[in-house]
Amino acid sequence: MSDFAFIRVEAEAGVARITVHRPDKLNALNAATVSELERAFHAVASDSSVRGVIITGSGEKAFVAGADIAELATMDPLTGIATSRQGQDAFRFLETMRKPVLAAINGFALGGGLELALACHLRVASSNARFGLPEVKLGIIPGYGGTVRLPRVVGRGRALELILTGEMIDAQEALRIGLVNRVVEPVALQQEATQLMGRITANGPVALAMALESVDHAAATSTHDALTLESDLFGLLAGTADMREGMKAFLEKRPARFEGR
Ligand code: COA
Repeated sequence: MSDFAFIRVEAEAGVARITVHRPDKLNALNAATVSELERAFHAVASDSSVRGVIITGSGEKAFVAGADIAELATMDPLTGIATSRQGQDAFRFLETMRKPVLAAINGFALGGGLELALACHLRVASSNARFGLPEVKLGIIPGYGGTVRLPRVVGRGRALELILTGEMIDAQEALRIGLVNRVVEPVALQQEATQLMGRITANGPVALAMALESVDHAAATSTHDALTLESDLFGLLAGTADMREGMKAFLEKRPARFEGR
């Protein structure tokens, strides 16, 4: 996974770290970067040694400052649809990945950058992070899922304020409205993200996958269907070695050693 120009992918202790790396452009997402991200998402999804994924940006100033405006400026209606679909597909794949994905937001998370963070399951931010969907200031709307996911995360009224003003909020306000899970000092961000992911990946991998599946399904279906799937997945887990190991370890008062099966 080293043949990337605009991202970096590393793995340590079962956690893959994907870093958007266009520091001279505040990590703005050109089409090539979105395509590299999509390749990396597929690679980590199918790598059984990877139990969790952290996504971050290069440098201290930006997570991702949006889609690349220089590229967007040349689009016509058809390439506009294709551009939007490319980002939507990549981010939806990430959102539906059955491994926990955490955004470590180290600065500006604007436009496509906030949309990338919204497609992650959890968000940890540094205190210097700033968030916004400034697309209307450019005469466009968010096209990588922002109008869909932001209202679900922070509620319709707060989402519409951000989408319609195009203005930024700081990390404390993002924490207050539930846009991020926690805020830490910039120097502590990567360690905090790694520790939080470590507490998650210490749990049963199949259970984590089924929890993500159930929550994602519940967002898109009726209470009846969602509850049916929840009980099916609950029952399915009863057939796993991980369940037997988790419960045995509890009864034997020792940490569980999950194998993901
Ligand atoms: N697309 C393309 N290039 C971008 C970019 C983007 N979304 N965001 C930043 N850059 C580039 C700048 O053009 C500049 O490049 P240059 O040095 O070749 O001129 C470089 O990154 C540094 O950005 P700069 O604007 O000089 O930094 P700043 O500290 O003055 O401002 C921001 C930071 C984030 C407030 C500002 O860059 C910004 O508003 N970016 C656009 C955000 C946006 O609208 N995103 C949504 C796009 S749909």
